[in-house]
Amino acid sequence: MEHRFLGKSGLKVSELDLGTQTFGWGADEKTAHAMLDRFVEAGGNIIDSANIYNQGQSEQYLGSWLKNSSIRDQLIICTKVFFPSGEGPNDTGLTRKHIFNEIERSLRRLNTDYVDLYQLHCFDSSTPLEETLSALSALVDSGKVRYIGASNFTPSQLEKALMISKMQGFQSFVSLQPEYSLIVRSTEWELLPLCSEEGLGLLPWSPLAGGWLTGKYRRHQPPPPDSRVYRKDRWDDQPEQRASELTWRVIDTLLELSGRYCKTPAQIALNWLLRQPGVTCPVIGARTIEQLEENLGSTGWELEEEELRKLNEASAIQLPYPYSFVQRYTRKRK
Ligand SMILES: NC(=O)c1ccc[n+]([C@@H]2O[C@H](COP(=O)([O-])OP(=O)(O)OC[C@H]3O[C@@H](n4cnc5c(N)ncnc54)[C@H](OP(=O)(O)O)[C@@H]3O)[C@@H](O)[C@H]2O)c1
Repeated sequence: MEHRFLGKSGLKVSELDLGTQTFGWGADEKTAHAMLDRFVEAGGNIIDSANIYNQGQSEQYLGSWLKNSSIRDQLIICTKVFFPSGEGPNDTGLTRKHIFNEIERSLRRLNTDYVDLYQLHCFDSSTPLEETLSALSALVDSGKVRYIGASNFTPSQLEKALMISKMQGFQSFVSLQPEYSLIVRSTEWELLPLCSEEGLGLLPWSPLAGGWLTGKYRRHQPPPPDSRVYRKDRWDDQPEQRASELTWRVIDTLLELSGRYCKTPAQIALNWLLRQPGVTCPVIGARTIEQLEENLGSTGWELEEEELRKLNEASAIQLPYPYSFVQRYTRKRK
């Protein structure tokens, strides 16, 4: 696996980031450890978790693996804070109190003294950004956190946070983790150019749209048993929305290219993402070691221009206003 700079920071991360949302849910501790071993063996160094994944079990499984690992300092361990971690009125959000509580809990579960990348899991409209950013800056100063990042921010929220950091001398985000895949391309409208302009690394989550881009779901056919849609996972609570004409068109194209390329639809979908300008490393998900093995096969080769064009065409969506207006007239000016 190759390594890329995380935005304008000097940090080098592998071109795939291992997501651990399945740890403690679809994957037991033994499978989780086997996946971590395999990922590192393949050259991966960046691993993503969150305080709330499976009530902390994702961090715990990662922590029990880290405890016996001799390479902790080689790894980029990422986790997140925002969503409710308890029933109390202050067990949620991006307040100084919740952030300070949650970093301690995450560090304990992860069996480590520091988190490499601490990410805000979602924008919190109830807490001033100054409070959140000063709390994060204090964590960096204390050595408990090395870098900070955002996830699920709108472009204007992200821009405002970056501006406040600059103006007030707080630590600044080095990365954004947005949803981005062949069937969720709205990320390209503003977030991608903004991240490129501001030098933020981009870590797309659900790069296979929760499994839809693996080709296992077919038009007019029931979902395969043990799949996310079949199990009605809470992570895929909108299968009807996913099963759109756009999705079927993209899946048809992936299947067509798969036959021609001797690569699986998942490998092609991930390779497309790896080729998008501004993308640092997709956060891949896997429930089994076999799925991980397949997804690791998305690196080390490149889709050709003609195939990229086909995928871009199949996944293209009509731009809504005002993007459509700006695009039309900017193109004329150029
Ligand atoms: N920041 C955020 O808000 C946010 C949100 C979501 C996720 N994330 C992060 O992103 C990571 C990845 O998200 P994701 O799990 O949704 O990613 P994904 O790669 O889009 O979906 C992963 C799921 O697809 C199926 N799958 C994966 N590879 C497969 C293969 N080769 N063949 C067949 N099925 C395959 C598995 O589900 P089955 O159970 O159907 O087999 C697997 O759990 C998470 O672990 C987490 O770290 C972040």
